[in-house]
Amino acid sequence: MEGASVVETGETGEREEGASTMEQAAQATVQPMAKYKLVFLGDQSVGKTSIITRFMYDKFDSTYQATIGIDFLSKTMYLEDRTVRLQLWDTAGQERFRSLIPSYIRDSSVAVVVYDVTSQTSFANTVRWIKDVRAERDSDVIMVLVGNKTDLSEKRQVTVEEGEAKAKELGVMFIETSAKGGVNIKALFRKIASSLPGMESVSISRAKNLVDVKLEPNMQGGGAPPAAACSC
Ligand code: GTP
Ligand code: MG
Repeated sequence: MEGASVVETGETGEREEGASTMEQAAQATVQPMAKYKLVFLGDQSVGKTSIITRFMYDKFDSTYQATIGIDFLSKTMYLEDRTVRLQLWDTAGQERFRSLIPSYIRDSSVAVVVYDVTSQTSFANTVRWIKDVRAERDSDVIMVLVGNKTDLSEKRQVTVEEGEAKAKELGVMFIETSAKGGVNIKALFRKIASSLPGMESVSISRAKNLVDVKLEPNMQGGGAPPAAACSC
């Protein structure tokens, strides 16, 4: 993610089969769109930004550009029975940014904890990330453990069974992905979306917190000041 700035995208939503334009328009006028904050966590270089980039733009870049601080993107997802606005907080895995993360966890209703299936260390460290989430949110959060880079099958150090077992032990959802191959990326977000029903009212009441979200320039690698806080 270039320069690690605050990025607000437009209405380039993912259209799921079965949701007609008429239905979407009706939903838009009848009820406020449910908004959910997702925070992406995990060690440096596991592929958090790549998963988000694949989901948002259906692109993949093999050049590593470490996220500096926190990036923000948002996307509307058109599901069969409703439309949701997902607000994605892409955190930096580098240790020096660790202290920034708790406040973003506190503010999110979904935590996506990513590891790299070719790195036992990143897998072991997911326990630490999940512990951080629990410390901020107890069980009041949807959590998904994601094993990324499944395309690197010869380098794999963590089996799918190990991933599943850990997720079960920790009581979180699980999926393996390849941001490079575009494998299971939509499935990941559908899994998250399908676990959201019933949380609309919670989300809407939390939406007002959006105006309080501010990224200080020093959190963004000295870049331009963030775009005005929005209620997107
Ligand atoms: P930080 O921002 O430092 O926390 O890293 P990150 O977790 O955002 O990782 P990022 O998405 O920047 O990816 C790190 C490197 O892994 C990049 O070179 C990516 O191209 C590569 N990568 C990410 N996902 C995949 C994948 O599914 N397969 C392969 N082969 N490489 C991947
Ligand atoms: Mg990143």
